Amino acid sequence: MPPMGPPGMGRGDRNKRYAEKVKPKDIKNSVKRLLAYIGEDKGKVFLAIGCVLISAGTNLAGTYMLRPIINGLGEAGVSAEERVRELFLGLAVMALIYLVGVTATFIQSRTMIKVSQNTLRRIRDDLFMKLQRLSVRYFDTNSAGDIMSRFTNDIDNIGQMFDSTLLQMFSGLLTLTGSLVLMFITNIPLAVITLLLTPVIAKVGGTIASRTRKYFSKQQETLGAVNGYIEEIITGQKVVKVFNHEEKVKGEFSGLNTQLRSVQSMANFLGGIMGPCMNAMSQVNYTVTAFVGSVLAFFTRLGKIGADSFSFAALDIGGLTVFVNYSKQFARPINEIANQVNVIMSSLAGAERVFKVMDEKPETADDTSRVRLENVKGDVVLKNVTFGYEPDKVILKNISMYAHPGQKIALVGSTGAGKTTITNLLTRFYDIDSGEITIDGTDLRDIDRESLRENIAMVLQDTHLFTGTVMENIRYGRLDATDEEVKNAAVTSSAHMFIKNMPDGYDTMLTGDGSNLSQGQRQLLNIARAALSRAPILILDEATSSVDTRTEQHINRGMDALMKNRTTFVIAHRLSTIRNADAIMVLENGEIIERGTHEELLSQRGRYYELYTGIKELD
Ligand SMILES: Nc1ncnc2c1ncn2[C@@H]1O[C@H](COP(=O)(O)OP(=O)(O)OP(=O)(O)O)[C@@H](O)[C@H]1O
Ligand SMILES: [Mg+2]
Repeated sequence: MPPMGPPGMGRGDRNKRYAEKVKPKDIKNSVKRLLAYIGEDKGKVFLAIGCVLISAGTNLAGTYMLRPIINGLGEAGVSAEERVRELFLGLAVMALIYLVGVTATFIQSRTMIKVSQNTLRRIRDDLFMKLQRLSVRYFDTNSAGDIMSRFTNDIDNIGQMFDSTLLQMFSGLLTLTGSLVLMFITNIPLAVITLLLTPVIAKVGGTIASRTRKYFSKQQETLGAVNGYIEEIITGQKVVKVFNHEEKVKGEFSGLNTQLRSVQSMANFLGGIMGPCMNAMSQVNYTVTAFVGSVLAFFTRLGKIGADSFSFAALDIGGLTVFVNYSKQFARPINEIANQVNVIMSSLAGAERVFKVMDEKPETADDTSRVRLENVKGDVVLKNVTFGYEPDKVILKNISMYAHPGQKIALVGSTGAGKTTITNLLTRFYDIDSGEITIDGTDLRDIDRESLRENIAMVLQDTHLFTGTVMENIRYGRLDATDEEVKNAAVTSSAHMFIKNMPDGYDTMLTGDGSNLSQGQRQLLNIARAALSRAPILILDEATSSVDTRTEQHINRGMDALMKNRTTFVIAHRLSTIRNADAIMVLENGEIIERGTHEELLSQRGRYYELYTGIKELD
């Protein structure tokens, strides 16, 4: 979540903060990869292309049918009966052609929607799989909102292109060339006139389109800013309330909202006048061709134009009708194509953002050795470990410590000292920069990650519960555990008492990260998860910080049994809970400054003594 902007921050800055404007940078690469995705439905794609050819062809041919029909009506020396018969025949053929065209269009759009949805499903699948393989570092450095928007906005954009734009553009191009060719076949002078008018039409259309585009992309940007702001304020609503920032927030929102209104009005206005303007232009074209065409047809009738003189300009009434129809069809695709280029650009920008995640280095990218741990005793050694999250900022400096199988090692120290960081290294969420960490003598970097994490149970400092029942949530610790085992784990962690009092007991549904539970209750469920696991190494990071002291004592008794045969690392601010640890490490600024048992450290009267007595006095 981005930080809330300082008061008085300009609107432009605010927009940038919430919405990153994207333009495709490597179009070729994105197109290649999208084609690879869509290629899995090759058969369907070719079917759709075939249908587009048919529908564009029938559209042109249907119009062309007007010519014999109309000319037949004016033919001399034909009986009335014959004439009616021919008229109906002509109309029937025309209807048939259009029917084929409509069917082809129907099949084409159905097929393409299927192709599009299949492709999107594949992309979403791949993206999600990829996320599961990314390192903790990736999630620590990228905002959840941004990752989410790649699943929603960006993939939607790609879908829009596949659904309609691509084929519309293709069919537009076909119609454009087809009608141009047929116009030349029908009458060369008229075709030349239309061709001369085309750049004018394209210019007018292009000018409006580019203005519209500018406002539409501004609209997206502003919309993104409004959405980002709403999201941030909703998630931070309690903070807003507690600091009485409602008025300030209202003001900021209304500023953004007003801006959205004006941009949106302009975008819609320009989008709205596009059609009428193009119609007017095409009307000019229509009038000119109709006028010149009528003159040509008139002289053709008189015989002034015909087989012997100016035969290239000869035009019958049917030809004139057909021609003006084509010249009307001709203008339409020009501005359609202009609009679609826009959609394609934003889809490609979205595709690029999606592919960027897919190209991230997965967690296991540099794994060389894949030793699987068997029958782990739990002998953990850290030797001269140095580590920093960023290359130039060292967090842990030359840390050495060990835990013999079954020992309980406590890490204490002030906030930000590096306690959680050590646990991040043990689980290999991050790799160390120098030094060595071993489990039963095997270097951590040689151990298969899955095997490593199978052997470590962890209660994280910030707990997380998934949507599901209480039972399912505890079972997350070991999927094959029986109901009985789940309940025993709950008893051990003192969670059983409160679960029993919930409306549906172990079947109570938890939603929204367990928002219907207290902080302490959530912690108890997390401890139950760890208790269920049979991992020989246990890490408890502030596992009981939100639990009252009495419950904590309760848990500790249960935990003693739990920890009996496990190597345990405990991090606790409440030092009374770690008095019985085999060794206590006092961390300060990423260094171990004191180590020993509770009694030893107290008698040293150093930092631990300070921390312990200080806290005791406060108690
Ligand atoms: N993902 C991260 N990226 C960069 N720096 C981090 C990250 N996580 C922690 N740090 C930094 O590392 C240092 C040690 O953090 P750590 O979480 O290990 O502290 P801690 O001892 O667990 O503190 P607390 O008692 O508050 O939990 C802090 O200065 C913190 O700013
Ligand atoms: Mg911590």
